[in-house]
Amino acid sequence: SGGNPELGKTDAKTMCIVCHGAAGISPVQGFPDLAGQWPQYLLKQLHDFMSKKRDDPLAKGTMIDAVKTIHGQQEMKDLVAFFGSLPPPKAKPVPTDTQAKALWAAGKSIYFGGIRLTDVPACEACHSTTGAGTPPEFPRLAGQDKTYLVEQLTYFHDGTRANDPNGIMRDIAGRLDKQEILALATFIPTL
Ligand code: HEM
Ligand code: HEM
Repeated sequence: SGGNPELGKTDAKTMCIVCHGAAGISPVQGFPDLAGQWPQYLLKQLHDFMSKKRDDPLAKGTMIDAVKTIHGQQEMKDLVAFFGSLPPPKAKPVPTDTQAKALWAAGKSIYFGGIRLTDVPACEACHSTTGAGTPPEFPRLAGQDKTYLVEQLTYFHDGTRANDPNGIMRDIAGRLDKQEILALATFIPTL
């Protein structure tokens, strides 16, 4: 995307790592890992925070303010090049207790097969079989923070995150109930 990851590293040190970690793995539960994410996707998100097209409840007071500290387009490109160049989060272990295992299995079934009754498409169609996503527009989900996934799917469901092109994620998450969102958020981090 035309960014310099070395310069981005210097900028990130002062502005981003408190919340996203020096290795792009967030130390805060509910905040996203940025490591290994597609730079074009990250760049779109920064533009959307800046224009407040993405202004869900969690973005308010975090990213809506943080983007104001970025000095211009080149610094923005360097930052996303840096985070994108880092090794992605590792797959979390599959849960072992009976209840969580059942949720995990339900999430796996939706991820690869969708839900016929409510017209939910398989997530893998866009986010790929491995969860690595499909650049430029479909983000990596594999290994992502579970709480962050619950939050974002809930925001798309409610329409409070409304920056998805053509409302695609609002349509899909709008068809998911709370239990299905929890199931997906239990499965996806293990990809
Ligand atoms: C989300 C980058 C600073 C907290 C994001 C996203 C990007 C990003 C690209 C979207 C991730 C995705 O959609 O998967 C950056 C950069 C920063 C920075 C480049 C430095 C300039 C911070 C700081 C905080 C923070 C200082 C904490 C105060 C968050 C949170 C989200 C987020 C909570 C999720 C927001 C939401 O739900 O809409 N960040 N970030 N970030 N970041 Fe940052
Ligand atoms: C974004 C989950 C199916 C297209 C996202 C995000 C999540 C997610 C959690 C936000 C990622 C982040 O903030 O880092 C899912 C799940 C699916 C599914 C659980 C299956 C139930 C699909 C399908 C498509 C799609 C089938 C394509 C037709 C997108 C796009 C974005 C996105 C374009 C980025 C939106 C933006 O620019 O902000 N998805 N997804 N997703 N998803 Fe999906």
